[in-house]
Amino acid sequence: MPSTLLLTLPGNEAAGAALAQAAGCRTAAVQLHRFPDGETRVTLPAGLLGCRVVLLCSLDRPDEKLAPLLFAADAARELGALEVGLAAPYLAYLRQDARFAPGQAISARTFCRVLARHFDFVATVDPHLHRYPSLDALFDIPAVRVPAAPAVADWIAARVERPLLIGPDSESEQWIGDVAQRLDAPFRALEKRRDGDADVTVSPLGDGDWHGRTPVLLDDILSTGSTMLAAIERLRAAGLPPPLCVAIHPVLAGEAWARLRSADTAGVVSCNTIAHPSNAIDVMPLLARALPPA
Ligand code: R5P
Repeated sequence: MPSTLLLTLPGNEAAGAALAQAAGCRTAAVQLHRFPDGETRVTLPAGLLGCRVVLLCSLDRPDEKLAPLLFAADAARELGALEVGLAAPYLAYLRQDARFAPGQAISARTFCRVLARHFDFVATVDPHLHRYPSLDALFDIPAVRVPAAPAVADWIAARVERPLLIGPDSESEQWIGDVAQRLDAPFRALEKRRDGDADVTVSPLGDGDWHGRTPVLLDDILSTGSTMLAAIERLRAAGLPPPLCVAIHPVLAGEAWARLRSADTAGVVSCNTIAHPSNAIDVMPLLARALPPA
């Protein structure tokens, strides 16, 4: 059986070490050189002949990462890899899964189609599936969705007494429902309206007996932070204690991290799908299970 070699793209070193350890496979680095004109030279390590190669690249800030990733995938094959897979702890563009206004590109479809042309399989953590029911509807190669819920639930269980899981929008029900079930805790999903990149309104919490509960706000993606901040405000208005905020994918654009850190919360933590100081929950052992045997 071919051995598995994990090749880590720059910026994914910590996740790469954790993933290789959990998967029990060898790991090496992909080197990128940016030329002054903005083009990128990709260099792979030696020894790919006859291996099954898995490229590890979290796809936040995807526009700058996509070209080098595809160059690396094709080079791995040309250098003798028998199979080339992608471990993308965060998969970008899935929120653009419809033509919300005339003329818009349905980026989710194109992005996944491009990846499928260069890789033999894909594994990712909690993709933002909304209008597409599953990864199979977007990829014509094997594509595995790895839920972060077991790691998130274990982390909360070890630190929070009597949690109340709250999601900021209807899509979040899939994540909070799974985590809440594992914790045997109540949950509630709010409703969200977005009128601009950072212009978000969420519905009030509504009635319920939350006495003695510790609110935990959980969302899949923290981007501008506006959704989380609007939900924090709703919980404050409902008289709940400051919530613990948990994100699966800390994309954290612009001032989002600073804004969240100065908000009245019991802390903001994330899964290590994107390297960030908020990383507290290790999902690499879960992602490792989706990779082929070492
Ligand atoms: C979208 O529906 C996602 O689940 C997140 O709620 C969203 O991406 C968060 O974005 P932002 O942090 O910019 O409000």
